[in-house]
This record gives sequence, structure tokens and C-alpha cells, in this order.
Amino acid sequence: MPNRKKNPPPSDAGLKPKPISASRSEMAEVVLPALTNPLGKLLGGHVMHLVDIAAAMAASRHSNSYVVTASVDYIDFRNPINVGEFVILKSQVNRVFHTSMEVGVKVFSENALTGERKHTTTAYVTFVAIDAITRQPRAVAPLILKTAEEKRRWREAGARRKARLALRYKKSREKD
Ligand SMILES: CC(C)(COP(=O)(O)OP(=O)(O)OC[C@H]1O[C@@H](n2cnc3c(N)ncnc32)[C@H](O)[C@@H]1OP(=O)(O)O)[C@@H](O)C(=O)NCCC(=O)NCCS
Repeated sequence: MPNRKKNPPPSDAGLKPKPISASRSEMAEVVLPALTNPLGKLLGGHVMHLVDIAAAMAASRHSNSYVVTASVDYIDFRNPINVGEFVILKSQVNRVFHTSMEVGVKVFSENALTGERKHTTTAYVTFVAIDAITRQPRAVAPLILKTAEEKRRWREAGARRKARLALRYKKSREKD
């Protein structure tokens, strides 16, 4: 990112709230041998790359703006994905703060021969919306929460942000 001058906080006045469904995104690709380790499992680094892209799609769709990855708050590899399987990623915005948003990504493997799907990875990534002209963070439309599950994810995203900020504060104190 280019150097930016600090401006007053961007206003979200007038931004129309959007439902979580507006950000929902899905992408898929075939696991080819070049992307696997000697055991024929998809490289974790490639999963992270795909997670970043799928999450950015959801953040961009919600904010209708360019977005940058600010932090990866959590990633958990539960099951491997084998060469020849499909890797499927589903993402959605869990919570909007002001200029930042937390996006949840679920990754699945799908066996092309049997159709069996397995949940392989969960990740939470925070993005900041960036104004195309000023290159400054810009306010993001509020979220409309509908289901109990959406409300639960919204609450949990708040707890993750709180924990991240507390850790950042602790680290900054340790440096002093
Ligand atoms: C993310 C970034 C735009 C924040 O800029 P900044 O000058 O710190 O901006 P501010 O302090 O005004 O914070 C803006 C928002 O970013 C959030 N933020 C800043 N650093 C963050 C971090 N490490 N993790 C999560 N959120 C962060 C703030 O909480 C704030 O969110 P809010 O408005 O919803 O409360 C800036 O640090 C940056 O450009 N980082 C590099 C991003 C990058 O190159 N990513 C990889 C390629 S896409």
C-alpha cells in the first residue's frame, strides 16, 4: 500500500445495509499434482492462497470496493485434500466493524468419483475496504442479520476482534 496521510474517520452515513447473502461467494478448482506434497495432499500454503481469494470476493461483494487483507485471525486444517479431488471454498461476511469486515471461509474436498464432501478447513480473515481514489480506508455498509446462525457468527467475530486487539496491545506493551 502507498503511504497514506491520516484523515478524519470515514463516515458510514447513508450506506444502505445489506444482507449476508449479498456477500456469499463460492469457488472451486481441481487439485493437480503440482500443487501437492509428496503424499499427494494439497499444499497448506495453496489452501491459504485460495482462502484469501475466496474471502476477498465476499468482502468486495459486500463493500462494493477494493479490499486489502488486514489479518488472518484463525485457520484450522482439519482434513487433507487429495490430488484429483475438487477443492470448494464458501465465504461470507460475518461482521462489519467500520472500515473493516470479518469474513468466514469454509473449505471442502469433494471426491469426483463418489461425490463425498468433507469439511477440511475453517478460516476467519479481516479485510479493510479501500477507496479507489483516495486509497484510504472507507466505511462499509452495515449488515442485516436474519438467522440465529448469522447472529451467532456476528457475536463470535466480535470476540475474535476483541482477542486480536488485546494481543496487539499486549505485544505493543512488551516492546516498550
Ligand atoms: C489494513 C490497513 C489498510 C489499515 O490501515 P491503517 O492506517 O492502520 O488504518 P486505521 O488505523 O484507520 O484502521 C482502519 C481499519 O483497519 C483495521 N485494522 C488495522 N490493522 C488491522 C489488523 N492488523 N488486523 C485487523 N484489522 C486491522 C482497524 O481495526 C480499522 O477497522 P475499523 O475501521 O473497522 O475499526 C493498512 O495497515 C494496510 O494497508 N496494511 C497492508 C495490507 C496489505 O498489504 N495486505 C496484503 C495485500 S492485500
